[in-house]
Amino acid sequence: MRNLIDILDLSVEELDELIKVASDIIDNPSKYAKACEGKQLATLFFEPSTRTRMSFESAMNYLGGKVITVAGANTSSAAKGESIADTIKVVSNYVDIIAMRHRIEGAALVAANNTTVPFINAGDGGHFHPTQTLADLLTIYRESGRLDNLTVGICGDLKYGRTVHSLIAAMSRYENVKFVLISPEELKCPEYVFEGKDRGSFEVTTSLEEAMPKLDILYMTRIQKERFTDEATYERLKDSYILTPEKLLSAKPEMRILHPLPRVNEISVAVDDDPRAVYFKQTLYGRYMRMALILKLLKEKDLPDIERENDVVVDKYKCTNPVCITSCEQELKHKAIVRNGKVRCLYCEHDIKS
Ligand code: NCD
Repeated sequence: MRNLIDILDLSVEELDELIKVASDIIDNPSKYAKACEGKQLATLFFEPSTRTRMSFESAMNYLGGKVITVAGANTSSAAKGESIADTIKVVSNYVDIIAMRHRIEGAALVAANNTTVPFINAGDGGHFHPTQTLADLLTIYRESGRLDNLTVGICGDLKYGRTVHSLIAAMSRYENVKFVLISPEELKCPEYVFEGKDRGSFEVTTSLEEAMPKLDILYMTRIQKERFTDEATYERLKDSYILTPEKLLSAKPEMRILHPLPRVNEISVAVDDDPRAVYFKQTLYGRYMRMALILKLLKEKDLPDIERENDVVVDKYKCTNPVCITSCEQELKHKAIVRNGKVRCLYCEHDIKS
């Protein structure tokens, strides 16, 4: 079964193919208007969402398919304590494809292990958000003309920002991509995001001003209030970076500014009129890429998932991440992977034992 849990479930060739199909959809929308006639998508959103859920639903509607939805953690049997595994087994009987968002890290992998129809991770806690990355890739490709030979600044909450983790995983597979990771010390990108990335160079800084002149892409992110365990830390860090027209004076004229949205206050509204700001266009590109993805997964549903690289799975370690799926799913066995000498939870990738 083809599923999308991690952006690495798609090869670079497949990403390029999705971009091609999305571009064809942009040019010839009527060609696709009945492509999913008779098919149904379920959107299960157990965490707040505007763009991701609506763009999935809009995507399926534009393909001529139908949508059924659960929006909110309190409106389904999840509130009665039903496990993700059980929910997915049931929903698989109702639809042809499922997109799910959940606040628990690793929820997507458990769902994918229990589905009988293609499953798409629409965000699992602070872990991954591969379909936002699809939107980001199409935006960068169409607005900057390439996905290689780029210096990409990623600014804000790199610790909890799941879109950041998936974007780094995807873009480090392209030739000569340099990342400048801009965040407060406390919100640095977790180590697992870099492991096994043989390409891409990473520079870490706290200064957006210093990074600005060298960037081809500036990817701003929101400080993820809902994932902080202590409010005082959030209050202290929440205004770490605010992009203003003045700060953009030193930026390249051809730089592009992306943001997965929602914006809180990390980009001043005054930046919206700058021709380099493409974050609202990015949401439209997201719909096109989700259309391309739905088409692909429905077509390839009987093909196996891509094999992950040589990860050794062991079951003698316990994950201690309180928002890992192993902490809440009934009878789910703890499993760890050994990667480059590190032991990580199979589900959420948190460090178990160094
Ligand atoms: C992002 C998310 O949910 O991770 N939003 C989105 O899907 N476009 C980013 C965020 O919430 O900050």
